[in-house]
Amino acid sequence: MSEEKKAPAGAAATVNAAGAAPPPPAPKPGHARITIDGKQVEVPNGTMVIQAAASIGIDIPHFCYHEDLPVDGNCRMCLVEIEKMPKLQIACNTRATDGMVVRTTSEKTKAAQRAVLEFLLINHPIDCPVCDQAGECKLQEYYMDYDRQRSRFPLPAKVHKKKAKPIGPLVVLDQERCVLCSRCVRFVDEVTHTSELAFYQRGDHVDLDLAPGKTLDNPYSGNVVDICPVGALTSRDFRFRARVWYLERAESVCGACANGCNIEIYHREGHIFRFQPRKNLAVNQYWMCDAGRLSYRNLQGEGRLAQPLVRGHEEFVPASWANALTATAARLREAGPVGVVVSAEASNEEIFLLRRLATALGARVAGVSWSPPGAFHDDFLIKADKNPNTEGLRLQGIASDGAVDGLLAAAGRGDLGALVLHRTDLTTWRDPGTVRAVLERVPYLAVLDTDGRESAQFADTVLPIATYAESDGTFTNHAGRVQRFHAAVTPPGEARAGWMAVSELLSLVTREPAIASAEAAFAALAAECPAFAGLDYAALGAEGRPIAAPR
Ligand code: SF4
Ligand code: SF4
Ligand code: FES
Repeated sequence: MSEEKKAPAGAAATVNAAGAAPPPPAPKPGHARITIDGKQVEVPNGTMVIQAAASIGIDIPHFCYHEDLPVDGNCRMCLVEIEKMPKLQIACNTRATDGMVVRTTSEKTKAAQRAVLEFLLINHPIDCPVCDQAGECKLQEYYMDYDRQRSRFPLPAKVHKKKAKPIGPLVVLDQERCVLCSRCVRFVDEVTHTSELAFYQRGDHVDLDLAPGKTLDNPYSGNVVDICPVGALTSRDFRFRARVWYLERAESVCGACANGCNIEIYHREGHIFRFQPRKNLAVNQYWMCDAGRLSYRNLQGEGRLAQPLVRGHEEFVPASWANALTATAARLREAGPVGVVVSAEASNEEIFLLRRLATALGARVAGVSWSPPGAFHDDFLIKADKNPNTEGLRLQGIASDGAVDGLLAAAGRGDLGALVLHRTDLTTWRDPGTVRAVLERVPYLAVLDTDGRESAQFADTVLPIATYAESDGTFTNHAGRVQRFHAAVTPPGEARAGWMAVSELLSLVTREPAIASAEAAFAALAAECPAFAGLDYAALGAEGRPIAAPR
């Protein structure tokens, strides 16, 4: 027996009488087993080779393919060698079939990748040093990974097209940089059904441009910037404000409506530069709306509160947190009937702690879920409810709106000794004159908020708290899905996370230890509230968990 034919003890069952390995078992029904670069993978029938490769960590370069858009197969960057097929095939539009053997790094494949890149670069401008896509440009990355050849095309012979042309409120087009992948065209045709973009002319004079009489101003227009693989479509809001390699990212959830689109917050040195959508097939697929995309600006406006304030004889006086919280706890304990108003902008953790505070004080608690009348909504992502956590209030049993009217009426009659407002300015919600009169009349008013809004002008104590981009926590979206957000930046000045401020106030009122983290507050909520039972931060993962049937 030769050295190769010696089988280890116990391995006899894997070698047949002739000494050859038996064929592997058939794949599961409805599946195909294929080999890519020597690695086997079993995938459901209908899976494209590019997807099968991605599932085992093999990245096949591509420009036009996008998971959530119809396949177009126009760029040819994904060509691969497939055994028994005479020509290279595009991996984005070739189904994996049982027994297929694919090579993504063979000499033939590499030659094709170099040829496609050379072809794409013939008329590409020499813009990399000044292009805002640098750092996240697929053409630049693939050139370095798969090509690195000197251009054989003389510079003066390049075809020139329009540069830096605004095509909508959010998007600038540079036609020379376009690789004609049609992702943006498919997005406006198939996702928004608005068809603002198309190709015109022929050959090397093809232009991506606006359709006659149109501008790119649909409510989801910013997504074309995210999916453009090169610097042809850039964001009017973000371009030239920061090089992406200097930015850090934090996973979060958009707080601008009840949909709770998953996002990444790009930030640096305490400043937020942009929101981009994060894939969650159960919530927002790959997309987000323009209003949500720009809502990061509202989180770092000039009105941010940065210091606890207590009312002196005439004006507010800055105070330490210790003094402000001690004074607030003492006043609330002695005030007599107390009302607590919590908005649907609060996290689940904050709502839970405020409920505990209300219980400790014997207070009535009511929720506010306010949206501008006639707020825009559609049947895709955008909800009329512009609060991130109305469902969280409901699942914790807090009645909204009408209950606040009851509290305001009680305060107006002089039946309330103190009122706590958390993340809400009631003057924008009900008749401002009536609300002002009530807030003036209530003997003690504590306001916890991110910004110095009008209700705070009537407060005895103002406690500055963090936005959701500055704090850990969870929201429950309109469909009853609990999703985590993570602190991306630190709050301004001495502002603190909302859960922390309420937890410390609660501790001073009850004289019990404070809950020390958002995670601990969530665990306590899960232990107490049946809707959240069995959940913790680890169980929520990056994409959240549904806990209630959509209403
Ligand atoms: S503008 Fe960008 S997304 Fe649109 S076709 Fe050109 S390269 Fe593709
Ligand atoms: S649809 Fe709602 S949650 Fe999604 S990005 Fe827009 S505002 Fe934010
Ligand atoms: S990604 Fe396959 S042809 Fe473009």
